[in-house]
Amino acid sequence: MLSSPSAPSLSVLLVACLLPVEIVAFSRVELVNNGYENLVIGISPSLPESEGATLIPVIKEMIKNASEVLFTATRRRAFFRDVRIVIPKSWSNTDTDDVAVFESFTESDLRIDNPNPVYENQPYTRQPGECRDPGDFIHMTPAYLKEEIFSYYYGPPAKVLVMEWARLRWGVYDEIGYSGDPKYPIFFSLPREEASGRTDVRSQVEYQVNVCTDTYIKGKERMWFDETLMCTYTHEGLPDDDCVFFPDANQTAKSSLMSFPLVFSDTLVEFCDDHTHNSLAKTKHNDRCDGQSVWEVMLQHSDFKANANPATSNSEEPNIKVVRETNPDYVLVLDYSGSMSTANRMVRLQLAAQRWLLHEVPLYSSVAIVRFDSTASLLAPLTKIEGETERKSLASQIHTSNNGGTSIGAGLKMAVDLLEGRADKNVFLITDGEENEAPMVADVMDEIISKKLCVSTLALGGNAAKDLEKLGDLTKCPSYTVNDNDVSNALENAFEGVSTRQLSASPEESFIKIEETPKIQTADATYEGSFLVDSTVGRNLTFRLKADAKSHVISGPTLVKPDGTILQGAADFDDIGNVWTVVVPDAEEGTWQWKVTLSQDSSKYIQATVQALPRDPNDAPIVTTVKFLAPATGVSPKDQSIKIIATVMKGNSPIRGANVIAYVTPPDITASAQEYELLDNGAGADAVSGDGIYSRYMTTFAGEGRYSIKALVKGGSSSSVNNGPPPPPSFPSAGRRRRRSADLSINPRPCCGSIVPYDPDTATPTGNFTRVSSGSSLKVSDPPAPDEDILPPCKVTDLHVAELYGQDEGGSILTLVWTSPGDDHDEGTASDYTFRLTGVRPDLTNKGFGEAPASTLLQFERAALNESGVLVPFGSSVAFNVTYRGDLTFGTEYLVALKAKDEAGNESPVSNVASFFLDQKLALPTWADELIKTLKKSNAEFFSKT
Ligand SMILES: *[C@@H]1O[C@H](CO)[C@@H](O)[C@H](O)[C@H]1NC(C)=O
Ligand SMILES: *[C@@H]1O[C@H](CO)[C@@H](O)[C@H](O)[C@H]1NC(C)=O
Ligand SMILES: *[C@@H]1O[C@H](CO)[C@@H](O)[C@H](O)[C@H]1NC(C)=O
Ligand SMILES: *[C@@H]1O[C@H](CO)[C@@H](O)[C@H](O)[C@H]1NC(C)=O
Ligand SMILES: *[C@@H]1O[C@H](CO)[C@@H](O)[C@H](O)[C@H]1NC(C)=O
Repeated sequence: MLSSPSAPSLSVLLVACLLPVEIVAFSRVELVNNGYENLVIGISPSLPESEGATLIPVIKEMIKNASEVLFTATRRRAFFRDVRIVIPKSWSNTDTDDVAVFESFTESDLRIDNPNPVYENQPYTRQPGECRDPGDFIHMTPAYLKEEIFSYYYGPPAKVLVMEWARLRWGVYDEIGYSGDPKYPIFFSLPREEASGRTDVRSQVEYQVNVCTDTYIKGKERMWFDETLMCTYTHEGLPDDDCVFFPDANQTAKSSLMSFPLVFSDTLVEFCDDHTHNSLAKTKHNDRCDGQSVWEVMLQHSDFKANANPATSNSEEPNIKVVRETNPDYVLVLDYSGSMSTANRMVRLQLAAQRWLLHEVPLYSSVAIVRFDSTASLLAPLTKIEGETERKSLASQIHTSNNGGTSIGAGLKMAVDLLEGRADKNVFLITDGEENEAPMVADVMDEIISKKLCVSTLALGGNAAKDLEKLGDLTKCPSYTVNDNDVSNALENAFEGVSTRQLSASPEESFIKIEETPKIQTADATYEGSFLVDSTVGRNLTFRLKADAKSHVISGPTLVKPDGTILQGAADFDDIGNVWTVVVPDAEEGTWQWKVTLSQDSSKYIQATVQALPRDPNDAPIVTTVKFLAPATGVSPKDQSIKIIATVMKGNSPIRGANVIAYVTPPDITASAQEYELLDNGAGADAVSGDGIYSRYMTTFAGEGRYSIKALVKGGSSSSVNNGPPPPPSFPSAGRRRRRSADLSINPRPCCGSIVPYDPDTATPTGNFTRVSSGSSLKVSDPPAPDEDILPPCKVTDLHVAELYGQDEGGSILTLVWTSPGDDHDEGTASDYTFRLTGVRPDLTNKGFGEAPASTLLQFERAALNESGVLVPFGSSVAFNVTYRGDLTFGTEYLVALKAKDEAGNESPVSNVASFFLDQKLALPTWADELIKTLKKSNAEFFSKT
């Protein structure tokens, strides 16, 4: 009866909350007088140096070509002016133009790295945010850049780079469909009489390729796994899920660059704008960006807003430099003002700084220490760490006699002078107060920026300078916070964050944290703990026990192997930082125990940390990260939603089914840490199901101020590594332009629409594992009061029409199915809904929904909603019957959307736009033609062009 070509299956939960956010990425790219500057292309330290000789010239050529493509596509408003290719430190035989200053692989805009098996050699952009949010990075593989064959499937590098750039920079999305995708199909049906898309003699419906284009795209439909096989069709006449579209090489269409499988032709050089945009296409872009064209979204970016960077006559040839990563320099700028005595801050800072110097700061980096109160003075000049001697000598310079006022500018000025003429310049500023003596931060700001320093900041306690985050924001470096009652080890994690942030070590020398206890205070005479060593880690396992007083630990820690053997040999003791260290060269897999005898003084604490290197240097380990997705300088939850995002990957492969708990420590020291279970099921805050990015909205606030974050990730019997999509039924046979060599892995189906494909047969179980990770802080202003409900339900993104029941005197009944949103974003229960049915896409935008004609409202009984089981907490699939009182006509496509409301009346954004097609076989009476006329009218403009 009902043909609903894009209906998602019930098993796919898709809900997301959309609110405007301007998130600052760590990228330093700026658009200055039409030229992008500071674009960084990072080459992974996992790649052998022998790749450089072929890769670097190809990357340069790609950038030059891409700059021209970008210039055309932006209508002469932007090109790439200044680009650095940063190579690993270990590539010592490759010619360079300079050393890296701020450039690093881990913070590069475009990463050249081994494949993510989910995408294989297809370039992609990681963007876990919403429409208009910047992405994390673009990923391209060496094979894609070197082997021309991939251009046939994924588009040529220059054009693809511009397409990915649009996603990374302006937060737009693909304008294509995906084979088998429940939301973004390759083909979509058109209103019958208006259709001018591709038709097949067997079809009852007319349909179009799911792209944005200014004119008809020529091509053929074939099975995705074999270009010579004709497609099969559904009984309604739409191509089957395995059918894809192979465009001809010779096209006349100018748009859209975002339809990337089509871009191998010399045409398709423009983005769709409001004249060429097709808001009815079922693309990710339309779904996520409220039906707006790519061009409209771009124009809202600060690059182009208010006529910034207007069209210019000529682009410039990009200036491309190759730079090598280098050993970083760090200047610690420590607050020694009077207030540092509060809550033992001075002593806590001393211990954390000493432990960092003694155990964490990387070998061959250089460190200087500056103290400031009303003035600044030097505790230690820049000293290169060559071993224990330098570590101890630096650590012993940190004393605890503090006094006087606060001149942050004086401390920073000294750091600027110390770093004069150095390469990778990092400052870690730790302060607990507002500046009250000159020089001020503002007095040194210009110098800090022009000399490209990175200033990470740590706010200690609740009264640190309000604008501290501006420093991090302007220099694109992280801000941290530690409250006075912190038990989560946040102070030491901030130090670690500063020295691991831009370190791009090859996997075999990158330590992975597998366990971190909170600070433990106990009156017991002994303490026992355990940690898990999984199959991917275990080399140089390093167990550290820290105490605030040496006397608190009666005898150093003992480790017990999984088989019960006690590890003999005393722990190494550092009597400056009070740290016991046990190193196990090759730790057995399994659960280890640790034991320690204590002085029974419950005013003292111990704290344990375990880290290890990957077990097999050639097998990538499981690594996790966590962060708040929000502007660095602060945000009010009343203005925009805040997401918490964690990544769980083995190398570049997503891990499915991990248990990820984020702990958020609020500024209110009497409130306990808030726990969020982050999800990777495409629900709520999570953009794509199964991509190894776990997300949740932040919905609980305890006061104004800075929040810190930490995540605990566990794997078990239900978690696995996604090693790629299911294989094709048979390998692609030789097609017209197809060449293949056995070592090329090509997935002719682009990835990924709304879900990441997964092959249970090739996925590898992770077994039990644990990881700990912490992130930079979040500054919250004007949070809702505890009794104030201002957060709306999140956007429903998986609405679909599951059934349509024929006409009676009351109208037609539609069964709608969706995943329940929350009361506050993805927390709690929504309490009311509004549904609309229309043929007019603008009626279903965020702006249009409230103003659409009353005739588009779908009817239901309030009592039925209460009794239907629809009003349930976030995350359940619900079904509900609504009635359409107007006329429905066969041969017609209809659009349906909803808005959810909470009991305080806060309204969610409009849901995804579901559609259904009434095919001819549906025996409905032919009534008044009003609706289809409206539909025709709205579509006429677009289809008359095709
Ligand atoms: C760059 O453009 C030239 C000329 O059109 C073309 O031959 C070359 O293949 C392009 N290279 C890349 C990497 O895009
Ligand atoms: C491509 O299209 C153009 C313009 O329609 C035509 O002149 C040209 O011959 C075509 N080339 C091929 C290879 O079909
Ligand atoms: C791992 O341990 C070995 C042997 O003690 C040592 O030589 C090596 O430097 C350690 N590796 C790292 C990255 O610390
Ligand atoms: C993994 O952990 C679970 C729960 O902690 C435990 O029951 C199971 O035995 C562990 N599996 C292995 C292989 O260690
Ligand atoms: C919707 O209505 C139909 C026809 O009355 C009924 O069979 C079906 O169970 C209803 N579905 C729901 C979810 O209430």
